[in-house]
Formats: sequence, C-alpha cells, structure tokens
Amino acid sequence: MAPLTGILSDLDRVLLSAEEIHARVAEMAAQIESDYAGKVITVVVLMDGALFFVSDLLRQIDLPIRLVTLGASSYQGGTESSGQVKIQWPTGACFADENVLLLDDILDTGLTLSVLRERLLIKKPASLRTAVLLDKKRPRSHDYPLDYCGFEIADEFVVGYGMDYQGRFRNLPCIGILKP
Ligand code: IMP
Ligand code: MG
Repeated sequence: MAPLTGILSDLDRVLLSAEEIHARVAEMAAQIESDYAGKVITVVVLMDGALFFVSDLLRQIDLPIRLVTLGASSYQGGTESSGQVKIQWPTGACFADENVLLLDDILDTGLTLSVLRERLLIKKPASLRTAVLLDKKRPRSHDYPLDYCGFEIADEFVVGYGMDYQGRFRNLPCIGILKP
C-alpha cells in the first residue's frame, strides 16, 4: 500500500476508502428513495459530523426534501454516568405530520439520537426513521432502533468524512483510525 501523505499521515490506517463510502451511500440513497416514493421527506441532520454524509446522500435522492440542520452536544453531567444532550432547535421547524428522516454520522452510545428521537416524537411526525453512516458495535447504554446503516464498525475511534478529533480531520475523504 502507498504511504499515507498530508493529513492522511496522521492515520494509523484507512478503515473505509472514499470509493467504498461513495458506493455504499449510493445504495442507501436508492433504498431511501424507493421507501419514500411519493412523499416529501423532512431530513433532520445532526451537525457537524453528518455534513458530508448528508451532502452526498441527499444529492442522490430524487424526491422533494425539506432540510433541517440541528446542533446537538452531548456531555456527561457531573460524575453521573447518565449523559445530557443539548439540542439547538431551529426556529420555524414544525415536524407535525411530516415524514422525518433523522441523519447522523455515527451511532456510538446512542445517547444523542435517543434524546433527539424522543423529543421529535412529541411533535407527532407522520413517521420517524433514522439513518447513520456508521454503527459502532459496542455495549450500548441506549438501544437505538436504526432503519438505515451504512457500515457496522468495531469499537474504535474514527475520523474523516465529517468526523473529527478535536476539530480536525473532518475533511479527510476516507474514514480512518488515528495513530495512537
Ligand atoms: P453518541 O451520542 O455517543 O451516540 O455519539 C454522539 C456523537 O459522538 C456522534 O454523532 C459523533 O459526532 C461523535 N462520535 C462518536 N464516536 C465517534 C468517533 O469514533 N469519531 C468521531 N466522532 C464520534
Ligand atoms: Mg455527531
């Protein structure tokens, strides 16, 4: 394999190449397009990690889409193991009777998506489904019902294709594991 250069040189290894990601995202888009045929989708995106995923996915879905971007930050409150999630709702978003598709980069503990899902369900959407690019296989504190998943990965910290480590590496075209 060719040596990793530039920002790639901080990677220990590439987990998913840009080609593998694009092929799988195209499959997901086709599946979603067929499942939602005849409907308008309200896509709710968790920023910033899902930025490239949503951009590649939505451009391949030939259906009317309403896009809502949300900021969410999860943190562990004090010494308690139960986490808290802060969600910044955009003004004017409604969700009632809409077909909501929630998009995120990665399902890790499931905390962020679980909280967001509960708060969206209160708003009585016609339907609520979730798509993530990566599903991290780890003992989960919050069991989460996924509808679409790009790849299952092992319990390792990944960067690239939108995902960061301390604000860096989001712009890597592939997904990789950092050097220790
Ligand atoms: P969760 O609430 O623990 O499921 O994860 C919430 C967020 O943590 C995800 O949406 C990601 O933004 C971030 N995250 C989790 N695992 C990773 C990782 O391996 N690399 C980069 N970000 C991650
Ligand atoms: Mg995220």
